[in-house]
Amino acid sequence: MEYKFPQGFLWGSATSAHQVEGNNFNDWTEWEKVNAKRLVQEAKNKWQPWQQKKFPEMFNPENYISGLACDHYHLYEQDFEIARSLGQNAHRFSVEWSRIEPQEGKFNEAEIEHYRKVIAALKQRGLEPFLTINHWTLPVWFAARGGWENKESVKIFAKFVDRIANDFKEEIIYWITLNEPWIYISHSYLRGIWPPQKKNLFSSLKVFKNQIYAHKSAYNIIKSYNPEAKIGLAENNIYFEGWLKWFVRRWINQGFLDEIKRQTDFIGLNYYFHNKIRGFKFSHNDNEKISDMGWEVYPEGIYYVLKKLKNYNKPIYITENGIADSEDLKRAKFIKDHLFWTHKAISEGALVRGYFYWSLLDNLELDKGFWPRFGLVEADYKTFTRKIRPSAYEYAKICRENKIVN
Ligand code: BGC
Repeated sequence: MEYKFPQGFLWGSATSAHQVEGNNFNDWTEWEKVNAKRLVQEAKNKWQPWQQKKFPEMFNPENYISGLACDHYHLYEQDFEIARSLGQNAHRFSVEWSRIEPQEGKFNEAEIEHYRKVIAALKQRGLEPFLTINHWTLPVWFAARGGWENKESVKIFAKFVDRIANDFKEEIIYWITLNEPWIYISHSYLRGIWPPQKKNLFSSLKVFKNQIYAHKSAYNIIKSYNPEAKIGLAENNIYFEGWLKWFVRRWINQGFLDEIKRQTDFIGLNYYFHNKIRGFKFSHNDNEKISDMGWEVYPEGIYYVLKKLKNYNKPIYITENGIADSEDLKRAKFIKDHLFWTHKAISEGALVRGYFYWSLLDNLELDKGFWPRFGLVEADYKTFTRKIRPSAYEYAKICRENKIVN
């Protein structure tokens, strides 16, 4: 059977600045230095014996230091050339706030020029840019002022947005204000595993509120420069099953979206997880199919999640979906299966307009470090050479033909 995607469907892959660029200076780079050794210690209990054996890098503190990452900051043209050669016609990336505004209120013209070149390099290759304004990492000065907990954070962020919205008003149509607010809040302010490592409900509610205002003000600012711009945010949605599903879906999947639905032109969906709730336990995998990170592979879930998002009656872009698979044995099927269920959701009315595989390149999986390999393209972290994985060619066929064949 052939499953055709709508005309004009966007096919791409995604990255984020801190995870690929290298040589950054932000709240995460400072956190990595302080926490690398602890993360090595914790790896022993955190990962299964087969994972520890397969990825001994997790016991090296260097694994957790972003350092030069994939040096995408210098190699972006080569990387976009690969994306183009793989039949992609769109690309999601983020700008690094700490580069553009290294001190509060002081903008670095050279870095703005850098991103202008990045955008031009995408466009020259027929890749529609989707610009994420903030994919979690923060300038050190912003974090020192209380980060997103500070009630001034909305105004401070708005000044940054004002600058880039003006700079790129002619180049960028698709803007993503924030990446996965819920994941950020839960990891940084509830579970306390990401910087600033708080476990405080009150703080998390402040961050939630401030990020809602931050999104809304970014929306208004960008529209004031270009009323034709399309502005959304990327939210992680989990397919929940079990008795608490109504409640958790409302909070985790829809909490943020419900607040900003009037100030969003599209919804960015990041889909990775299926969660069966038993008692008060959330279980990720009771399925044999897992990624290198032990994450359950559950393609049907994207269908159920899309069916719920359909209720917002907005265009949807799948802004992330991907698998850590160092041997590239599961990736091609993973992509195809998720697209099969996406197609089903489209045929039942979900307005899905594009798909971005996470990620174009292997990259820094934040607190896990470099060992998880999500890339369509393998990155050698010593020589910075790229090697296209076989699954990338299979995805390329889908992108070129705008269809999957099952
Ligand atoms: C994030 C990415 C991350 C990916 C895989 C998403 O939640 O936006 O930054 O690398 O998941 O964990």
